[in-house]
Amino acid sequence: MNSQISPQNQQVALNWRLSVAPMMDWTDRHCRYLHRLLTRHTLLYTEMVTTGALLHGDVPRHLRFNAEEHPLALQLGGSEPADLARSALLGAQWGYDEINLNCGCPSERVQRGAFGACLMNEAPLVADCVKAMRDAVQIPVTVKHRIGIDKSESYEFVRDFIGTVAEAGCEVFIVHARNAWLKGLSPKENREVPPLRYDVVAQLKRDFPQLTLAINGGFKDNQSVAEQLEQVDGVMVGREAYHNPWWLASWDAQFYGDAPSELTREAVEEQMVDYMEREALAHGTHWYSIARHMLGLRHGLPGARRWRQVWSDHRLKVLPAREVMALARAPRSEDAGTPN
Ligand SMILES: Cc1cc2nc3c(=O)[nH]c(=O)nc-3n(C[C@H](O)[C@H](O)[C@H](O)COP(=O)(O)O)c2cc1C
Repeated sequence: MNSQISPQNQQVALNWRLSVAPMMDWTDRHCRYLHRLLTRHTLLYTEMVTTGALLHGDVPRHLRFNAEEHPLALQLGGSEPADLARSALLGAQWGYDEINLNCGCPSERVQRGAFGACLMNEAPLVADCVKAMRDAVQIPVTVKHRIGIDKSESYEFVRDFIGTVAEAGCEVFIVHARNAWLKGLSPKENREVPPLRYDVVAQLKRDFPQLTLAINGGFKDNQSVAEQLEQVDGVMVGREAYHNPWWLASWDAQFYGDAPSELTREAVEEQMVDYMEREALAHGTHWYSIARHMLGLRHGLPGARRWRQVWSDHRLKVLPAREVMALARAPRSEDAGTPN
């Protein structure tokens, strides 16, 4: 389960030690390009793509990515085994390194489509989905899910879900360590209100030592990540990775044994501007839709607010990205010592 050969004949060693979570509207290919500049080894996930969007929509728009983004997982949303198999095959053909099935999204829209977190109530169906996808592709098929549905605190529920899905051949589970409340909470509240219970994931790892289990939910610093890596196989980080991307620059040294990074925020910003220029030429992408993902790059530094305001000022959209960078960097006396 460790190394795979993608269709581009690229040897990609997959491991789930650190990953950045799938986040709709956030982890698009531009965001992932930024994250990859910051960490070479961390596994990156796409936003969720539904089987409907993929099988009836614009495939390149949903699946195109930059070669630099590997190792890269495609997250699918759906509950029809045949549709998921076709979508997984498309993902493998496009060169993704892993296919992940979303069994954790609580949004009402997703529930109406009968997938996401409500699939946890239908473990045999999830097993069929996993089997169909595994039959279609050679790359790993993994599942991301919650520890329970609504207010139930039954450990057996999540244990049996994993047991059933593992029997269909799934060897990797990413567990968002809180319940999904399917009624009454918005998706945002569903990432905040149901309590985190890391002990449940530790118990799952003890009960399924042969499986790869990664924990997700609420991680914000290297110490709490390191503590989890004593108990489980991996940690997936969502919001903090997005809001404070510079954190990722410490991960290769901290968690993969690389030499300490010599990267600077300025160098990353310059490489992003190079990327914006290439993207504009190749695909007509406006720098604004790339810059929005790096607004947290100076998080915590003096002058961060003004830097962020320049990069997000829509009145500057008429300027080339390189000029915007110069404006963002121009020193202002009142910045000295100003917290962001
Ligand atoms: C804006 C946003 C969009 C998200 N979209 C998805 C998604 O498409 N698929 C998914 O499995 N989880 C999605 N999530 C949930 C995250 O993957 C993750 O499970 C959750 O944010 C908890 O991790 P964190 O506390 O590190 O942020 C989303 C989260 C956010 C904030």
